[in-house]
Formats: sequence, structure tokens, C-alpha cells
Amino acid sequence: MKKYTTQDAHNRIKKLLYSLTGITLADNKDIMISNRIDKLKRDSKYQGDIMDLLDLVESGSYVTEFINSFTTNKTHFFREDFHFLDLKDRVLPKLAKEGGKIQMYCSASSTGEEPYSMAMTVLETKEELGKYIDASIVATDIDTNVLQYAANGIYRFSKSSKEFPNWIKPQKYFKRRVQKNLAGEEVLIKVKDELKKMITFKVMNLNDNSYPYQNNQFDVIFCRNVLIYFSAEDQNNILKKLFRHLKIGGTLYLGHSENPQDLINYVSRVGQNIFVKEKEIN
Ligand SMILES: C[S@@+](CC[C@H](N)C(=O)[O-])C[C@H]1O[C@@H](n2cnc3c(N)ncnc32)[C@H](O)[C@@H]1O
Repeated sequence: MKKYTTQDAHNRIKKLLYSLTGITLADNKDIMISNRIDKLKRDSKYQGDIMDLLDLVESGSYVTEFINSFTTNKTHFFREDFHFLDLKDRVLPKLAKEGGKIQMYCSASSTGEEPYSMAMTVLETKEELGKYIDASIVATDIDTNVLQYAANGIYRFSKSSKEFPNWIKPQKYFKRRVQKNLAGEEVLIKVKDELKKMITFKVMNLNDNSYPYQNNQFDVIFCRNVLIYFSAEDQNNILKKLFRHLKIGGTLYLGHSENPQDLINYVSRVGQNIFVKEKEIN
């Protein structure tokens, strides 16, 4: 006989998830939490009671499976494509003119579509300018499953095909492969090495006290559609930590429903959720 209610289990999950990741689950997420519990049990191959499984997570087992089950990884190529146009038309030509290595950071890369879109944008700019651009991208996420998926770089084309803006020809950047499956055939696209070698994928928790980068390291930081999972206070802390690693004059891209919080007095807004760092924040 269970000695706890579903709500007890959900409350415990919310606390545990917050302590491990900083993610805050709203009160109306009960159906989602139930579905994620099923996923956690499948992935951990744990058939017993959820409270016993949570005891194990608290004592250090199944932590990765727990985190991976409760992240939301929705993304697609060239999401909010005006950010990539800004990168191509404003940011990269200026940086290319200045010379030197361009360092970019994608702070919640999910299954990889966002950093690969950044890399394609670099190569398009290079072609437009007819000039060599030395650029690298660090792409991190807390979810190890999506990082593995990203590093493999294989996507279903049916999902991806609508996602490319007209200034990108996907055939330049992907190899196409038709694969037979039970439902018939599906087209897979595999990222070419030219893109892959620009990106380093790593696991990182944005809720950590500090990040393993140098001050003023990055010319560009993408932090999109991840802050929404944190409380306002935690969003502010994450933004301030990220900001230290952005160069003066560097560009920060945020997701459509995210805002720069306390950074507002230290940036200038140059487009829709596009901010240029003006000065350091203490
Ligand atoms: C909705 S996806 C957004 C992906 C991409 N940035 C975009 O805009 O399409 C959010 C990602 O944030 C990651 N995430 C959530 N909490 C995190 C944390 N504490 N540290 C790092 N990544 C986190 C999730 O694993 C997920 O892949």
C-alpha cells in the first residue's frame, strides 16, 4: 500500500530537480511530471516505487537519468531565424574585419540544431565575404542524452526540411540518406564534418556557481529558451554569470520570451532580444 499521495511524489521531484538543475516546475505540470516519471522508470530500468527511486537519486544513483528525464529539449534549426541573420549581416562581418579567432558560446544546445545553425551561418558569411573566418563554438547542455544526439548529428529531414531559411541550402551542409523502417522510408540528414569540427559539445549546468571559461572570452553568446525554466532570481544570476564571459562589444541573444533583467543597464538593444555588451557589471 502506498503511504503517500501523487502530490507528495511530485513535490519531492520538484525539490530534487531544483536542487540538481535550478529548473522550477510550475504547479500546473502534473501531467508532464507523470509522463516524465514513466520516462525515468524506462530509462533507468527501475520497476519499483517512485519514492524508492527518488531515495536512490538523492543518494547519488540514477542522477543523470533523473536530470535527462525532466529537461525539455524542444528546438529546431534556425529557430528565431532573425538572430542568425543578425549574426551573418552585422556581427560576423565586423569580427572578420577585426581578424583573430571568433569564439561563440551556445549555452543550452539541446540536440544540436542551434549550434549547427550557428556554424552554417559562419560558413555562409565566409562565402559571402570571400574571406577566411576562424570561428569555434562551445555548445553545452545539462542533458547528456541530447549532447550525444547532437554529437552524432543525424536528423530526420521531414522534421528539419521546413526549418531552413531561403539563404541556406541544406545540401551544402548535410549528407542525405534514405532509411527503411516499419512505416516505410524516412530521409535522414547527417551533418558534414566541416560543421562538426567547429563545435565542441560539453555537459554543463548553468546553475553551477561559476563557469569554466575566461572573463571576456566570447564574442557571441546564445542563451535562448532555457531561462524560462528558472525563477526570475535564478535567471538574473545565470545572466550575470554568463555576462562575465562576454567581451565588451560582444552580442548576447536571448529567446523570444526572455529578457536581460539586471543586465539592461549594461547593454544596448540592437534588435529583437539581441543585446550588445556596453560595460562590465559588478
Ligand atoms: C527548450 S531547449 C532550448 C534549446 C535551444 N537553445 C533553442 O532555443 O532551441 C532547453 C535546453 O536547456 C537545457 N537545460 C535545462 N536546464 C539546464 C541547466 N541547468 N543547465 C544547462 N542546460 C539546461 C535542457 O536540457 C534543454 O536542452
